[in-house]
Amino acid sequence: MITHDAYAVEPWCVRETELHLDVLPQSESLFALSNGHVGWRGNLDEGEPHGLPGSYLNGVHELRPLPYAEAGYGYPESGQTVIDVSNGKLIRLLVNDEPFDLRYGQLLSHERVLDLRAGVLQRTCEWSSPAGCTVRVRSTRLVSFTQRAVAAIAYEVEAVDSTVQLVVQSELVANEQLPPVVGDPRVAAALESPLDPEEHAAQGSRLRLVHRTRRSGLRVAAAADHVVRASDLRSTSSESSDDLARLTVTCVLRPGESMRLEKMVAYGWSGARSVPAVRGQVDAALAGARSTGWDGLLAQQRAYLEDFWSRADVEVEGDAEIQQAVRFALFHVLQAGARSERRAIPAKGLTGSGYDGHSFWDTETFVLPLLTYTAPDSVAEALRWRQSTLPAARERARQLGHQGAVFPWRTIDGAECSAYWPAGTAAFHVNADIADAVVRYIACTSDADFERDTGVELLVETARLWRSLGHHDHHGRFHIDGVTGPDEYSALSDDNAYTNLMAQANLRAAADITERHPEQAAALGVDDEEAAAWRDAAEAMTIHIDHNLGVHAQSAAFTMHQVWDFAGTRPDQYPLMLNFPYFDLYRRQVVKQADLVLAMFMRDDAFTEEEKARNFAYYEALTVRDSSLSACCQAVIAAEVGHLRLAYDYVGESALMDLKDLENNTRDGLHIASLAGTWIALVAGFGGLRNRAGVLHFAPKLPEKLARLAFSVQVLRRRLRVEIQDSEATYSLLAGSPLEICHYGQRLTVSEKSPQRRSVPEVPSLPEPQQPPGRRPTRRH
Ligand code: BGC
Repeated sequence: MITHDAYAVEPWCVRETELHLDVLPQSESLFALSNGHVGWRGNLDEGEPHGLPGSYLNGVHELRPLPYAEAGYGYPESGQTVIDVSNGKLIRLLVNDEPFDLRYGQLLSHERVLDLRAGVLQRTCEWSSPAGCTVRVRSTRLVSFTQRAVAAIAYEVEAVDSTVQLVVQSELVANEQLPPVVGDPRVAAALESPLDPEEHAAQGSRLRLVHRTRRSGLRVAAAADHVVRASDLRSTSSESSDDLARLTVTCVLRPGESMRLEKMVAYGWSGARSVPAVRGQVDAALAGARSTGWDGLLAQQRAYLEDFWSRADVEVEGDAEIQQAVRFALFHVLQAGARSERRAIPAKGLTGSGYDGHSFWDTETFVLPLLTYTAPDSVAEALRWRQSTLPAARERARQLGHQGAVFPWRTIDGAECSAYWPAGTAAFHVNADIADAVVRYIACTSDADFERDTGVELLVETARLWRSLGHHDHHGRFHIDGVTGPDEYSALSDDNAYTNLMAQANLRAAADITERHPEQAAALGVDDEEAAAWRDAAEAMTIHIDHNLGVHAQSAAFTMHQVWDFAGTRPDQYPLMLNFPYFDLYRRQVVKQADLVLAMFMRDDAFTEEEKARNFAYYEALTVRDSSLSACCQAVIAAEVGHLRLAYDYVGESALMDLKDLENNTRDGLHIASLAGTWIALVAGFGGLRNRAGVLHFAPKLPEKLARLAFSVQVLRRRLRVEIQDSEATYSLLAGSPLEICHYGQRLTVSEKSPQRRSVPEVPSLPEPQQPPGRRPTRRH
């Protein structure tokens, strides 16, 4: 956990004012820069000390064995792991004859600032070498949103108190040494030096390396070019070998003088293109970046973000920490998705190698809702990526004996990489989560091309799975048995309510869309009978209710199970999956993460107000939040049923997951879904946003501590701003033709000329539901 106060609370940046080596790996994740295509962890310019060096290219992975103690039919045989590609961030420095390394000498001052409006990471430090020679280093780094292959660094060194000779080595390094992989030695071996060299070049200030991954056969190129300025420049030279390309600059600086090096880096990769083609690709990207120039790249970055913030900013008054955290969250979610362009958005974005760089349902359920309302084009691209993986998903369905598509639980390129069936492939709900994201995107954009070319196919193939996975019993009820819902502490259960409700919506949406697009439907082989069967299954979907307790059962018989012995569980035994056998968790009432509670958000039409309140209280007492995906869902329903203070506490947990490293694993990369969840918790929780049949409904309410909440959503080419303050909500249309919305069920039309103001009803204070002992979220303030 990050417990020290080195990160100042400021509205538009994250500032680190002291270097704490014990949390260096966490800071590398927090300060990671990415555009969804290229990702650079926030490693120090000189490379060391480091927690985990990381340069990633979305989609570049190596295959590795998936070992099983006992073989079984349908187990994936090969896994995929994100790999560290050539490191283009490296700028090593020799001060007189001593390497600039903060572990030696004396660090006189240190500051790093992640600037959320400029989209850069800035660093300033003053260091005295062991021999007592002091230099000031300033660097600014960016990964360009506008030129997706490009990243750049401006690096400056100033002599402070004596004349120094500097040697600066700007490098591209492939197969850099990483901390050892713990676990299976076969896996470690497959990942050691994953890049085979194919070509290297160094000419003047230009460097290039081309490599190919050994098993996955992906060709990766990195190139760099430099501009150097120093009054007393003594020499520049460059060299290259298999895994290293280096520009070396020497200069002499008198006190007060400085040298400046601008480094532009371009990346490219392909599973199909030849060496000359990827070489050409990175050279071209570099030529583009050079012609824009450093100042041009900075200006483009700021303009891109200005546009984003004008659409997406969330203003929070009354809690400076949450204000900073939600902007930090929006920034990182944008970084993860902005330019991923028909590639997956991994659970950690491109901020670390956690979860092997895999994507999960996190993308469609947490990340895409935020992006749908703030950067919708990136959502279309992410869903087109899913569509491009349909061949693998259809093949997986065939293999498992089913119709339609089975999308993978975790993957990089579309193939299932989960080696644990119960908390893997059996979580079939990912199919319905994808369908839900398709429906939301279409409802919010009316993108007709997407609907016809992508929406129909995704909805049809996902619906087909449900029809084939489920069955009608002798009463005609439809059941989906033996699946795992979001709560991974209950596996292979029957009629998981979340799965069934999401599948029901998926089946209906497929039937509706094929009616609207008969030609596309016919091309996919859908006939009237199939669509009717989808509707029948949807109508007959089983949802279990425990009438004695008056609550929905998370799955059939769930409420009959023995309740977990919470009182006998010590705080250090959480997360439970690391301290108790799964089989024991599976047969008890204990919930890892919001499951039925999430269903009440995603399918809010399927529950009455009273049901929501009773269910929430029941599942609160069982939910331990061993997943970072839970707090934000609990925040939304807590707010809806009137527990505003509790909702606020959950917002805090979701928002500070990484800034405070609450789960002690931020070093592996950021929790992108939890970051997106912060936005969800504020906008859907306190803003009460729900999209019902394409109409935006709001039911705003603020916890006592928040004086004001304002946010914007983009919908149907309009930009709507919602501001909640002093028991009033104001809806203003910033752009576009008049829009119909609902405020607490009342229809309003908002136009550019006439903002609408409505009062916010008071929320009576209710007794709070209980969490399992010791699992209450931290009280804010
Ligand atoms: C959660 C999953 C999630 C995964 C990746 C797991 O701990 O239980 O729901 O998809 O992490 O974030």
